[in-house]
Amino acid sequence: MHELNQPTILMCPPDFYGIEYEINPWMNRSTPNDPARSRIQWLGLHDVLVSLGVDVRLMEPVQGLPDLVFTANAGLVWKDKVFLASFRHSARQGETIRDEAWFQAAGFETLLLPSPLNFEGAGDALFCGDTLYGGYLVRSDASAIQWLGTRMGCRVIPLQLVDDHYYHLDTCFCPLDARTALYFPAAFDDYARRALSQIPHLIPVHPDEASRFACNAVVVGRHVVLNTGCPRLEADLTSHGFTPHSTPLDEFLKAGGSAKCLTLRLDGEDAAIWP
Ligand code: ARG
Repeated sequence: MHELNQPTILMCPPDFYGIEYEINPWMNRSTPNDPARSRIQWLGLHDVLVSLGVDVRLMEPVQGLPDLVFTANAGLVWKDKVFLASFRHSARQGETIRDEAWFQAAGFETLLLPSPLNFEGAGDALFCGDTLYGGYLVRSDASAIQWLGTRMGCRVIPLQLVDDHYYHLDTCFCPLDARTALYFPAAFDDYARRALSQIPHLIPVHPDEASRFACNAVVVGRHVVLNTGCPRLEADLTSHGFTPHSTPLDEFLKAGGSAKCLTLRLDGEDAAIWP
């Protein structure tokens, strides 16, 4: 995995995706997803990414692991290493052995955080420039984020998440480049909002669009891929020099996920300056 010369993203087809348990406020077993629509929407995202020049790598789906489709949670990729997730909920803990096997076969060094720390991968750990922002409380532990910062030798800013609807950092925060990020202010406490204000260009997302998972966007260079129904953010992105690409992902909102959750960047996010 050292000679990636094109943006490279890991995805997992939604063959066994479903709402089989409830571990966040969006999930409700009585509002199941439509498997055919889920497949079409997943393929739509896949095809937009390919059209933007992304090399999409695939992981094999596994029956009984309906959230494996959300590859963002597999781990935090750093150079030729991946810090694998230690999921908070037992329903997702079976994913780690699959993720580990995929990364080892792909040539990554796989690392686990010391137990009992919980950590949910790129869902809760995002670089903006040379700083690692870490979401904690709902899923990942603050000390997991600190542990990662020590291992990578980088500055860490832990951000407390205060609304269970925005339970992973990538549901309410999205670095676009080293100096620009999207965020949903109401998902953070005052301290976290102050910490985020160090980012030179911070674009707030409207509550109506935050709940359409507008912040859960995939960045490829100056292109931003997101769910449909976020016209305010599309206009803001354009005025900041980014090109929005919207694609319907409402079948995945039923599990509390959208574009970003369905992807994991393997060659480093565009916004990241790695130490
Ligand atoms: N149902 C999954 C969960 O609650 C959704 C994960 C979404 N992933 C993300 N990176 N936000 O864990």
